[in-house]
Amino acid sequence: IVLLLTEFTSGTHENALKWGELSPAPGVYDFNDVDPTIDLLEEYGLRVRGHTLFWNMQRPDWLEDELAAAPDSADRLRELMRVHVQTVVGRYAGRIEQWDVVNEPLELGGENLAPDNLFSGELGEEYIDLAFAAAHAADPTAQLFLNETLALSLPRKFEGLIALAERLLARGVPLHGIGLQGHFFVDPPDRATMQEQLERIADLGLLIELTEVDLPYFHFQAQPDPFAAQAESYGDVFAACLAVPACTGITMWGTDDGNSWLDSFLLTSVFRPNRPLLFDAFGQRKPAYFAAVAELAATPRARRVADAEIDIEPRRAVNRIDPQSAGNVTVLVRGGAGLDVAAIDLGALCFGPAGAPPESPPIVRDLDRDGEADLLAKFSIAGSLLAVGDTQACVSGRMNDGRRLRGCDAVQTVIGCGMGVELPLVLVPWMLLRRRRAIAA
Ligand code: G3I
Repeated sequence: IVLLLTEFTSGTHENALKWGELSPAPGVYDFNDVDPTIDLLEEYGLRVRGHTLFWNMQRPDWLEDELAAAPDSADRLRELMRVHVQTVVGRYAGRIEQWDVVNEPLELGGENLAPDNLFSGELGEEYIDLAFAAAHAADPTAQLFLNETLALSLPRKFEGLIALAERLLARGVPLHGIGLQGHFFVDPPDRATMQEQLERIADLGLLIELTEVDLPYFHFQAQPDPFAAQAESYGDVFAACLAVPACTGITMWGTDDGNSWLDSFLLTSVFRPNRPLLFDAFGQRKPAYFAAVAELAATPRARRVADAEIDIEPRRAVNRIDPQSAGNVTVLVRGGAGLDVAAIDLGALCFGPAGAPPESPPIVRDLDRDGEADLLAKFSIAGSLLAVGDTQACVSGRMNDGRRLRGCDAVQTVIGCGMGVELPLVLVPWMLLRRRRAIAA
């Protein structure tokens, strides 16, 4: 969470928004795993991408039986799809900026509609039209994407995707963009070829988002410096997107190498750890991160985050294992002149166990904003600051012009903040203590 809030400007759910995860029975919805994340992303000024409304792989368990029991299965499917879109897109209207409306309609290795897809099996291509029309009606402000996998790696599939987009546009379907997942486990992309592919989509008048990027280490392991080679390849991916104005975002499929789906996916689990992301399993920036940031920094249109300087005192452990010993942390936030700050948030500092919110909210004692001087805010927090070794503690904020403000400071403390394999060892006594306190209370 700390990485997400401090290093990224957009966030999405890996699984929690999928139909099968949201709906345990027809018409029954549970948003408990979704709402807090969307609130958090919004609070920190991150854009929210919605993933995904219709995907054959993670559809509800009950859907097949429900259709089998209906007198007209196609009609029942249309009805359930409309209710689903209305319920989910309607609930987050104005808050989820982009939706992957339909995910992976094409066969995995080819250009036709997937033969084993329940939705197209019932309705043919009409299911895509219906999904987009319903999503547009439920939130006319949302940008609606068709999201597909392996299209950048398989030329025939790419042509199939272009042809499908052309048919949808010709029928007046409110399609606004193509999501290219960017799971580069077949091969790393060639920069020029990828840029040409993105331009082909832009030529249709559509936006492009790279929606699920990861570049596994096994492609580079024979190189003298595999992480440098991975970084170079990441530079290609970012450069290709940034060179095409219609390519508006790059979403990584996971924040760090400790949490990649590739480690449990059948075809790639044999190579684990796949180490495909920008941060290592300890949340540290990899060469790939610096390559990506270099490309972003060289591009004026990349969404800018204003840097602030923060000072956290004391720098050493505020709290050793016993949570009762929490002390005061003083945070000074400085920025260059002209930063017009609307709000400063403390949540990106790590308080409490494993990055969880503090038991009682941090107290802002003295928020002293000064538009002219360099000091933007000064506050002290009663709480425990937890981190392993040399760790970045960060403060986020929002500027009045909508940009995000971000500043980090290196702190050295004893226990971990949602990262590191050592964590359970030190957290166990901490948690026991906590439980004992709860029992006493
Ligand atoms: O939620 C259950 C849990 O209750 C159960 O105990 C556990 C036991 O295996 O499974 C949990 O479900 C898992 C689910 O992720 C949530 O964690 C599934 O087994 C697991 O198969 C599922 O994997 C997800 C996969 O989509 C589904 O096929 C991956 O995390 C997710 O990264 C992946 O994401 C997809 C994109 O949505 C679309 N593009 C391809 C990408 C990779 O497949």
